[in-house]
Amino acid sequence: MRADFQSWIAAQQVRFEDVLRELLPRAEAAPQRLHEAMRYAVLDGGKRVRPLLAFAAGELVGADAARLNIAAAAVELIHAYSLVHDDMPCMDNDVLRRGKPTCHVQYDEATALLVGDSLQMLAFQLLAEHRLSDDALRQLEMIKLLAVAAGSRGMAGGQAIDLASVGKSLTLPELEFMHIHKTGALIRAAILLGAHCGPDTQRGSVSSAQLDKLDHFGKLIGLAFQVVDDVLDCEADTVTLGKTAGKDADNDKPTYVSLLGIHGARDMALRLHREALETLAEFGDSAQRLRELADFIVLRKF
Ligand code: IPE
Ligand code: IPE
Ligand code: MG
Ligand code: MG
Ligand code: MG
Repeated sequence: MRADFQSWIAAQQVRFEDVLRELLPRAEAAPQRLHEAMRYAVLDGGKRVRPLLAFAAGELVGADAARLNIAAAAVELIHAYSLVHDDMPCMDNDVLRRGKPTCHVQYDEATALLVGDSLQMLAFQLLAEHRLSDDALRQLEMIKLLAVAAGSRGMAGGQAIDLASVGKSLTLPELEFMHIHKTGALIRAAILLGAHCGPDTQRGSVSSAQLDKLDHFGKLIGLAFQVVDDVLDCEADTVTLGKTAGKDADNDKPTYVSLLGIHGARDMALRLHREALETLAEFGDSAQRLRELADFIVLRKF
């Protein structure tokens, strides 16, 4: 990782932590326990990959930083909610997340459910109450984009397929379909929301053909992200991951590793990475951060 990129990531993570801290309800406000649990689930942890992708896509189109913060926060809140629910006993039944006890372990199951509900609603509240585009219709499109990405035709749908697939062996296209939904959809949305924070396509720096390119990049890198997650689940250790290693095999989940083996899964991630970089060719230097994030997603160790 280039030093410049490493310091960019570190600076963005610190800065964005403050953004989230400000946007979440204060722990002192009633109902205190729910607000405290929401902050517990969101703050002090996570790589913030989706916000970083939104910032990088936003930078590419010259988007306003304050608008990007809101779009990035909305996606990260949905992601954090998905993790809280993913860890519950009715789903993956995990006790460790981001190096801490999972939300339902630290609080209780009912609170974890409500944390998920509340984070999801807060994400949409933010998108509705802050100005993200000069064009109100475009802002509505952004709200719809995140709703579709998070719902039954996106992340939640992918999670349903994941749960229905326990103990089964899926075909490669079925596995791809599941991963593109459960993980890819939000990553794709992060990139598009970042790009939509820029000046509109008629006046501005990015054409709709270029938006399609960015979307395709998001699709490929989103899939690669989950392939790498599958690999790390079986290769890395619990302390490094901050979540229980070996969980997929324990839960009898079909993954890229169970289907292709560890080398096959790694090759698949590298192929997706290569294809993703090809889609950025025409952007030149302005897409450098996105390229570096693609490298980070595929080469990460946690
Ligand atoms: C984990 O996501 C769950 C998946 C969708 C694979 P991340 O690896 O982005 O988790 P954090 O946010 O860094 O904890
Ligand atoms: C989770 O996938 C995808 C979500 C929508 C949260 P995993 O179940 O593989 O995520 P981890 O490994 O628990 O982070
Ligand atoms: Mg899961
Ligand atoms: Mg899980
Ligand atoms: Mg996993």
